[in-house]
Amino acid sequence: MKILMVCLGNICRSPLAEGIMQDLSDKNNLGWEIDSAGTGNWHVGEGPDRRSVKIAHKRGVPIGHQKCRQFRLSDFDEFDHIYVMDRSNLGDVLALAPNKQAAQKVKLLLGDKEVPDPYYDDMQFAPVFDLIEEGCKKIVKELVQ
Ligand code: 4NP
Repeated sequence: MKILMVCLGNICRSPLAEGIMQDLSDKNNLGWEIDSAGTGNWHVGEGPDRRSVKIAHKRGVPIGHQKCRQFRLSDFDEFDHIYVMDRSNLGDVLALAPNKQAAQKVKLLLGDKEVPDPYYDDMQFAPVFDLIEEGCKKIVKELVQ
C-alpha cells in the first residue's frame, strides 16, 4: 500500500502525517510506504519546519530527514490513497485529477474535518500533531479491515 499525505507547503502538516503514518505502519508490520508533498512549491528541497520537527521528536516520531517536494500528476498513479489536510488542499488536488479514478483516491485526512494550518501560530503544532495522529490511527483501522 502506498499513501501520500498532502498539504500546502509540505513543511508543517504533511511531514507530520507522513512520519506518524510510517511509524504506525512500521510498528504494526503493515509494510506500507508513506510519502508527502505540497500543492505549493515555495519550500521544495527544504526540510520540515523546525516546529514540526520539534513536536514530532518529542512524541517519538523523527521527521528531520524528510525533504519537501511538490505534488505531481504522476502521484495519482503511484499512490493508492492521497490524504489532504484541508478543503483548500482538496480543491487544489482534485483540480489536477485527470479522471474519476484519480479523484476517488483523494480524501480529507480527518474525513469530514480539516487539519488547520499551524504555520502562523507556534501554539498550534501540538494540537495539530494530535489531530493528525488521531486521523492516521482511524485510517489504519479502516484500511486494515
Ligand atoms: P503546511 O503549512 O501547508 O502545513 O506545510 C504551510 C507552510 C508554509 C506556507 C503555508 C503553509 N507558506 O505559505 O510558505
